[in-house]
Amino acid sequence: MSSETSFFSLAGKKALIIGGGQGMGESSALFLARAGCDVALVDLVPDRADAVGQKVAELGRKAFTIEGNVLDDADIPLIVAEAEAKLGGLDLMVSIVGAAAWGSLLETTAEIWDDQMRLNLRYFFLTAKEVAQSLIRRGQPGAIVGIASVDGQRAAPMRGAYGAAKGGLISLVQTMAVEWAPHDIRVNAIAPGHIVTPRLFDTPQRAEAYAASLLPMRHRGTPDDIGRAALFLASDMARYITGTTLDVDGGLLAANLFPRGLPGNNQG
Ligand SMILES: NC(=O)c1ccc[n+]([C@@H]2O[C@H](COP(=O)([O-])OP(=O)(O)OC[C@H]3O[C@@H](n4cnc5c(N)ncnc54)[C@H](O)[C@@H]3O)[C@@H](O)[C@H]2O)c1
Repeated sequence: MSSETSFFSLAGKKALIIGGGQGMGESSALFLARAGCDVALVDLVPDRADAVGQKVAELGRKAFTIEGNVLDDADIPLIVAEAEAKLGGLDLMVSIVGAAAWGSLLETTAEIWDDQMRLNLRYFFLTAKEVAQSLIRRGQPGAIVGIASVDGQRAAPMRGAYGAAKGGLISLVQTMAVEWAPHDIRVNAIAPGHIVTPRLFDTPQRAEAYAASLLPMRHRGTPDDIGRAALFLASDMARYITGTTLDVDGGLLAANLFPRGLPGNNQG
C-alpha cells in the first residue's frame, strides 16, 4: 500500500454495506476493501453480492453475502447480527439503498409518499440505530455513512417525496451525529449529483446533453466517485467530521448560483 493510501487505512475494520450488490454499493465495498476492510454485503439479490464478494476476495479481503430486505423491519436486527457474527465484529456501515418515484406533488398519493419514506429514510433510521446499538453495546467506536441526494437540499420538482425523504435523511444524520458523538460514533451522508446508473436517463445522448449544459464539470459522476467519498468519511481522515453531508455533484449545487446558465453556454 502506498503512503498516500495508508492515510485512509481501514486495516482490521469490518463494514456492513447495505445495497452492496451493484453501483455505488459495489464501489464503496471495493474502496473500503482496498483500504484493508472486510465487508458484509447486504442485497435483495444475493447473486449480485456474491459477484462483488468475489472482487473483494481478489483484493485479499473477506466478503460475506447477506440476503436481506431492509424494507422489512424484522430483517434489520437479523442482518446486523449476521454481519457482526460473520465478520467477527462491526465498525462501519455504508448504506446505499434508495430510489426516486417520478411525479408531481399533485400526483403523489399517500401510498407513494409512504413508500418513498420507507425506501429512502425509514430503513436508514432503523438500520443505523441497530448498528449504533451494537457499537455501544461492545464499547466500539464507529462510523456510519448514508446516501442523501442534491434533491434533499433544494426543490426537487417531479420527485418531491424523494426530496423530502432525502432532506429528512440529512437532518437525521445531524441528530444521530450529536446524540452518538459521546459514543465515538460518527454519522455523515453523501449527496450524489448525477451519477451514471442505468435507470436515470432513457438514452445516453440525453444524459450527455444534460451533463454538457448543466453540470459545471461537464460530465456525470461514476459510482467510484461515491466509493471514494464513502472511504474518506469512513476513514480516520474524516475523524473530526460528523453530522455533515458531502456533496459529490461535480459542482451542480454550486451552479444554482448562476440562474442564467453556466458561463459559456450562451443561455439567456
Ligand atoms: N444515480 C444517481 O444519480 C443518484 C443521485 C442522487 C442520489 N442517488 C442515491 O444513490 C443511491 C443508490 O442508487 P442506485 O440507483 O445506484 O441504487 P440501486 O438501485 O442500483 O441499488 C443498489 C443495490 O441495492 C439493492 N437493494 C435495493 N433495495 C434493497 C432492499 N430493500 N434491501 C436490500 N438491498 C436492496 C439492489 O438490489 C442493488 O443491488 C440511492 O439512495 C439513490 O437515491 C442516486
